[in-house]
Amino acid sequence: MSFFLSFFYRHLFWSPPKPTTSFKGKTVIVTGANTGLGKEATRWLVTLGAQVIMAVRNVNKGEAAARDIRSNTSCAPDALKVWQLDMSSYASVIAFAERAKTELPRLDALLANAGLHTEEWRVTEGNEEHITTNVVSTALISCLLYPKLQQTAVQYKSDAHLSITSSDLYYAADFKERLAPEGQLFATLNDEKKSNMADRYNVSKLLEIYIIREIAAATPYDSHRVIVNCVPPGFCHSELTRERETFGIKLLKTVLARPTEVGARTLVHAISAAPASHGQYIEDGVKIRQTLRHTQGEEGADIQRRFWVELKQILESIRPGVTSFK
Ligand SMILES: NC(=O)c1ccc[n+]([C@@H]2O[C@H](COP(=O)([O-])OP(=O)(O)OC[C@H]3O[C@@H](n4cnc5c(N)ncnc54)[C@H](OP(=O)(O)O)[C@@H]3O)[C@@H](O)[C@H]2O)c1
Repeated sequence: MSFFLSFFYRHLFWSPPKPTTSFKGKTVIVTGANTGLGKEATRWLVTLGAQVIMAVRNVNKGEAAARDIRSNTSCAPDALKVWQLDMSSYASVIAFAERAKTELPRLDALLANAGLHTEEWRVTEGNEEHITTNVVSTALISCLLYPKLQQTAVQYKSDAHLSITSSDLYYAADFKERLAPEGQLFATLNDEKKSNMADRYNVSKLLEIYIIREIAAATPYDSHRVIVNCVPPGFCHSELTRERETFGIKLLKTVLARPTEVGARTLVHAISAAPASHGQYIEDGVKIRQTLRHTQGEEGADIQRRFWVELKQILESIRPGVTSFK
């Protein structure tokens, strides 16, 4: 089935199943947990017995979300903790990871879900904002918390999970910046004159697929016991289009979008997925899918290699040693 036929079929005639795997005794970090898919994934997770660290940039919004979840689930009061994390600041990402390492007895899963979608050019940490938040900080928090996940997997003899919330829109990425000379991908992505902001979110979601593939390749499941994957939740109601809620988007949402709770099921499936999902793109959290276009063939492999060489340099400059998985 073509990509588009499959997309419409999944949204019009099918629904991701309700998750049933127990998370009793497990600790999960969900980034971007104050609203949208992250909040609803958190609701599912506490219902399934997890303790959840809600990583949010605005603690007041996070506490309001936690109150809402507590009010209609029977979770214990300490099943939810709200911690500050601003992915537009590397210092905040590092401080969050340090706190997790020192305060959490275990970490069974990281759901790296926080992300933004805008067509406005904004710069944080010297990068265009999607590049900082969706790409560099998402990779940074994944790499910083990876040792804690691995330690938990070994200590408790159970699989740990790292999942990034990706998107079907990776497929739509033109990614003309890929034509940049060797070593110039990030410089080109950060050049406002050369950038196509209508394509930028899609590019950021494509780059997340490369991140998952590279981390998975560096950390074979058999020796590391951490299952690393990415999950497109489908098109869902959320606040993602808050900066550009046009008539067309509203109409598309009405016709096609999954309720937020339904989309969030896919995220919960991804962090309970089997080892076969390691390094993979798990459509709707349940189906391993071959990815297409810029992720395929020799050209795809070459873009991924060039991207990872540059991203590794950036991550190492932020925190030396962070990409040397043991
Ligand atoms: N909805 C969809 O159709 C869809 C489809 C495919 C993939 N996704 C992906 O799903 C993930 C969740 O998005 P959503 O749809 O649930 O959108 P949403 O309702 O806008 O939620 C996004 C979350 O990310 C947080 N976030 C954004 N920038 C941040 C930063 N700098 N630091 C910390 N947190 C930050 C937001 O916090 P604030 O509220 O404080 O801004 C919010 O909690 C994203 O990665 C998105 O790309 C969504």
